[in-house]
This record gives sequence, C-alpha cells and structure tokens, in this order.
Amino acid sequence: METLTSTHHFDASARTWDCDPVKQARALAVAEGIRSLVPIGPHMHALEYGCGTGLLSFALQPHLEHISLADSSEGMLAVLEEKITANRITNMHSRQLDLVTDPLPAERYDLIYTLMTCHHIQDTTGLLRNLHTLLASSGHLCLADLDAEDGSFHGQGFSGHNGFDRGALGAIAESVGFRDIRFATVFRMTKGEGPDAKEYPVFLMVARK
Ligand SMILES: C[S@@+](CC[C@H](N)C(=O)[O-])C[C@H]1O[C@@H](n2cnc3c(N)ncnc32)[C@H](O)[C@@H]1O
Repeated sequence: METLTSTHHFDASARTWDCDPVKQARALAVAEGIRSLVPIGPHMHALEYGCGTGLLSFALQPHLEHISLADSSEGMLAVLEEKITANRITNMHSRQLDLVTDPLPAERYDLIYTLMTCHHIQDTTGLLRNLHTLLASSGHLCLADLDAEDGSFHGQGFSGHNGFDRGALGAIAESVGFRDIRFATVFRMTKGEGPDAKEYPVFLMVARK
C-alpha cells in the first residue's frame, strides 16, 4: 500500500517538489542555521541524508568541498541529477541509499545533515546510531525536523513520527554517543488560515561525534 512515508509517494512528488516556496524557504533557513552553529569550511566532506531534490545542499554547496546526497527515492534523485547537470555543479554527487535496509557505506563524513527526513523513519535510535558511525571523529550531525505535533501536519495515512520531542530526541542522540547536543528553532511552517491556522516549528539539532 502506498503511504505518505513510502518511496512511491516521494517519487510522485519529485517533479513538483521545488515549486513550493515554503520548501525553498525552509531549506534556506536551515542552511543559515547550520552555517551559524557549525564551523563549516571548504575542506569538508558532507553527507545529506534524505536529500530529496537537494534544496538544502544547493544552499551549502559553495561552502563545502564535496557533498554526497543520499535518498531512497529514484524520482527525487532523477530531479536532483538534472539540477546538478543544469547548474554545472562539480562537488555534489547523488547516491541511492536507505540506511534502514542497505549496508552502511564505507565513507566517513565531516558533516552530516538531514532535513524533514527522520520523522519518516520508525527506528530513530538505529538511524542515529548509523549516522554516528558515518561521521568522522569530531564530525557534526545537523538534524532538522518537526517539533512534536498532534498528527495534523501529515493528516491521515501517515505512519511515521508526529514530529519529535526535543528532550527525548536529545536523549536518544546521547545514548548512541553524540555529545554537545544543542537545539535551535530555525523555521516555522503554517497550515490553514485565519482562526484555523496552525504553526509547525522546525528545530535544528546540532551534535558532535
Ligand atoms: C519530506 S522529504 C524532504 C526532502 C528534502 N530534505 C527537503 O527538505 O526538501 C523526505 C525525504 O526523505 C527521503 N526518505 C524517506 N525515507 C528514507 C529512507 N529510509 N532512506 C533515505 N531517504 C528516505 C524521501 O525519499 C524524501 O526525499
């Protein structure tokens, strides 16, 4: 069955993903948050996990040496590849990777970042453990996602996490070996209008290996 967490759902959304100005603004805000909280530099090798069409990495690309962009959705990766080619970008490379089912890659990264992806993955502890393993010594993880919400963000048919409680997520990160864990609010999304309008903050968790 296709659900709001399935690869088919993201394959089908890929062509129109960048048409949404909120997704564009969200990626730029998260990029600003990462740059203000992490000393990123032109010698660094980064991994974006759950990259979609690469909105966040396009904003960070001028400041990093190399970025691997990983996603499980072929549709997202096809759109990403077209954008990399059209923009003649030489330091971004895509790969199909699902850390839930695939073996861990051998590479290690100075920086790993992920935006609005972790709430689609059931096993948060397993995911954070894998991301910790993929970081080089003293590397940084930047995890941006929804704060805990009442399920109205995705609505019916969604089987992932209804956002994350910051304290609980920080405790999981600590339990798999992360340190210096900090949170900031980097963006706010709104759904609905007038008295029905509801706000969904997006946090950025920064942690060190
Ligand atoms: C809400 S989208 C966010 C895309 C992009 N980060 C952005 O903010 O525009 C979630 C992305 O995570 C990817 N994804 C979901 N589960 C995944 C998994 N297990 N492994 C890799 N990617 C996954 C989806 O294919 C999708 O591209």
